[in-house]
Amino acid sequence: MVKKMDVKEAIRSRRSIGKVKQEPVDRALIEEILEAGTWAPNHCHTEPWRFWVMTGEGRALLGKGYAEVAAAGADPLLSEEELAKLKSAQEKKAFRAPVVIAVAVTPSAQEVVPEVEEYAAAHTAVQNMMLTAHALGLATIWRTGAPTYHPKMREAFSLGAKEELVGFVYIGYADMAPPKAERTPFAQKTLWVSE
Ligand SMILES: Cc1cc2nc3c(=O)[nH]c(=O)nc-3n(C[C@H](O)[C@H](O)[C@H](O)COP(=O)(O)O)c2cc1C
Repeated sequence: MVKKMDVKEAIRSRRSIGKVKQEPVDRALIEEILEAGTWAPNHCHTEPWRFWVMTGEGRALLGKGYAEVAAAGADPLLSEEELAKLKSAQEKKAFRAPVVIAVAVTPSAQEVVPEVEEYAAAHTAVQNMMLTAHALGLATIWRTGAPTYHPKMREAFSLGAKEELVGFVYIGYADMAPPKAERTPFAQKTLWVSE
């Protein structure tokens, strides 16, 4: 039974959790997470996001992306066996959680709002998803890294010209304690302007 969590508590206690169990996650929970993503604020109602939910062998979609990116940047002198080993190690990265949701920003062909705002909306969708997952008792980590934006990764996800992956949300039940976290007090980043 997951205890109820208010927004403030969810924001404060969510941590990036890199190690989760392979225990499957109910589809109903994944759907709640996706729905929360779609409630992100978005300028002019462009709803500029697309999701891929990868579970089981479906995670090979991302695995292939990682592998192809690594192969494209590999030393051309590698033997076939070495290359296969490299690709296999990269493929495995996609299997670090039972559910991985790839999120892409989908700016409209005709610019309705500045593209930076489409990205803002897609990023906000990710945060909504992570907070919702956390409130449901699930652990998440938002992963990117250079391979995310590589042409070979774009190819793996058949992205359109203006589309871009904004991250992979790895989801599962935590298999580690939440790391300690600190933030700079807002006072050091804030100027109050009252007149
Ligand atoms: C856009 C973005 C990309 C990230 N990519 C990675 C990543 O590739 N690998 C990783 O371990 N963490 C990644 N993170 C998670 C951050 O490292 C994490 O949010 C940060 O350390 C703060 O920890 P917290 O989320 O527990 O508060 C990413 C976070 C954001 C916002």
